[in-house]
Amino acid sequence: MHNEIERILFTEDQIAARVRELGQQISRDYEQLLGERISHEPPLAIGLLRGAVIFLADLARAMPIPLELAFMALSSYGRSTSPGEVRVVKDLEIPVAGRHLLIVEDIVDTGQTLAHLTELLRARHPASVKICTLLDKTPRRTRSIKLDYVGFTLPEDAFVVGYGLDYAERYRNLPYIAALKQSATRS
Ligand code: PRP
Repeated sequence: MHNEIERILFTEDQIAARVRELGQQISRDYEQLLGERISHEPPLAIGLLRGAVIFLADLARAMPIPLELAFMALSSYGRSTSPGEVRVVKDLEIPVAGRHLLIVEDIVDTGQTLAHLTELLRARHPASVKICTLLDKTPRRTRSIKLDYVGFTLPEDAFVVGYGLDYAERYRNLPYIAALKQSATRS
């Protein structure tokens, strides 16, 4: 194990099992919602770069329904010019009016990113907007958002890395999710 890792929170097997469950559940829900129309207007899964890439890659393969993929990038805290400001760095390349959108996130922390994104997407008149996040980290939430699908809830304010989540761009490729030692995050 890397020496900055304090402990593993979710193992590779636990993540794989939960992603399979989520994929089945989301697929069943869209089948119910869309019926035969699902092959004409498949849901559009929107992954947020870069953290959600690994989760979306696995989730998409756990969904046995027609599905389209798209990606957006938003700036978040630490890189924004004022607290709470969120900026679109890479937008969608297709119109989404009338489409069923599934936002796929690796983690919801303060909720600022998703509050901004759902507002922005709803203004484009999609048929529906749902959110699926692998981790729902609750202690620092400042915006209330309805999360339709949650992989795991994290009630502690740990700095988490792995399975797409980074610290200074490192650790995204760990196959598990772990808490980083506090000493590692002090500069
Ligand atoms: C992380 C994460 C979410 C956001 C959540 O992204 O992927 O998008 O922060 O935080 P919030 O709920 O407090 O808004 P980050 O900006 O670190 O970029 P990344 O996806 O490239 O890691």
